[in-house]
Amino acid sequence: MTHSNPYTPGAGFMPSYLAGREGLISHAEQSLLALQKRYPQQSMIYYGLRGVGKTVLLNTIENSAEGYGILFDHIEADSDGKFTQNLLVSLQRIAHEVSFQTTAKDFARRFLALLKAFRIQYKLEEGEVSFGVDPEAGFVSGVYSNDLTDLMTQLGKAAQSSGDTICLFIDEMQYLRREEIAGLIVALHRCNQLRLPIMAFCAGLPKILQEVGEACSYAERLFQYEVVGPLKPEEAAAAITVPAEDFEVAYDSAAVEHIIAQTGGYPYFIQQMCSSVWQITPDKPTITLEDVQEAEPKFWELLDKGFFAVRYQRCTPREKAFIAAMVKCGKLPCTIANVAKLMNKSVSSISPIRAQLISKGMIYPTSHGEIDFTVPKFHEYIKRINPDLQLG
Ligand SMILES: Nc1ncnc2c1ncn2[C@@H]1O[C@H](COP(=O)(O)OP(=O)(O)OP(=O)(O)O)[C@@H](O)[C@H]1O
Ligand SMILES: [Mg+2]
Repeated sequence: MTHSNPYTPGAGFMPSYLAGREGLISHAEQSLLALQKRYPQQSMIYYGLRGVGKTVLLNTIENSAEGYGILFDHIEADSDGKFTQNLLVSLQRIAHEVSFQTTAKDFARRFLALLKAFRIQYKLEEGEVSFGVDPEAGFVSGVYSNDLTDLMTQLGKAAQSSGDTICLFIDEMQYLRREEIAGLIVALHRCNQLRLPIMAFCAGLPKILQEVGEACSYAERLFQYEVVGPLKPEEAAAAITVPAEDFEVAYDSAAVEHIIAQTGGYPYFIQQMCSSVWQITPDKPTITLEDVQEAEPKFWELLDKGFFAVRYQRCTPREKAFIAAMVKCGKLPCTIANVAKLMNKSVSSISPIRAQLISKGMIYPTSHGEIDFTVPKFHEYIKRINPDLQLG
């Protein structure tokens, strides 16, 4: 057997062994199957830190949806503000599949008329005329949540009449604008009330909890929230050892324990560390603690130059000073009052920096109103590159 590397460090790279998410997956599959039987389901929000495995979880559930014959699409939101445009493309793609069914043709036609009007109203097509009456277009009100609700319920009716089930997968949900979050919530809620077969699985950074709550007061009843956290020790051990089994390679227990301790059970770190270890152990049937320790400097170097640096480099000098002050607080999460004190500034003067860092997805407000990094072990990285925690 060749010594291909079975580890998969990377954004959204499906691991050769998906550890520890069985409960979340089977719960999601139950929801999909129940929706197929026409029992309304709460949509799902998965939240967690960077690199914890939200995207691969969504992709796994998508595979299940596909296996059940559910119509679905995957939308990855971005800071480009094009979520609505991408959502419409997804809805249209799904409608296209539904409309093949003769029973659903009328609903699908009405959906397409609404879609056309929606695009004109919200100026969502290049060169589209933004006023005037189009005889083929449906009616839209200009109130985003109402219009999105009309669109999704119309699609839901088409699916109901054709016997289809629809599921949207929305990744990086933290990039949605407030109006888009609220619109999605209202539309999904209405579909639930009408027992229409549409639901969504969403994923994003922890700050989406607060944003969803602020966008809509009854959001907590509409969605189910599941945290995606680091792997427990036995799950992390499986993530480390199972991919090597195909190559008849084992790890001794001290090696496994060391990897778990260094990575904190974070999936991305496990993949990166095991990948680095694998590269220096091509002919070894058993990987030992010494092998892991030998590979460790390379592992940290790769993280520092890639995973951490990519995010840090996007920050302005003022934001970097704020980050250093957060680390200087000594304990995370920390309060903005402490950060302000260390920066010798008032809370109000540094609040805009806090807001920028939240919007960039670098930090998030915890449930107690403190702040923390969205990237695991980021404070250790800052100490490595700025040991004296200089603030400027
Ligand atoms: N349950 C798991 N078992 C083993 N490896 C995993 C697991 N989940 C994710 N990984 C690995 O961890 C890495 C990160 O996964 P993923 O990109 O899904 O994280 P994420 O939470 O979406 O990160 P981000 O917030 O940056 O988008 C990938 O290399 C993937 O192969
Ligand atoms: Mg992701």
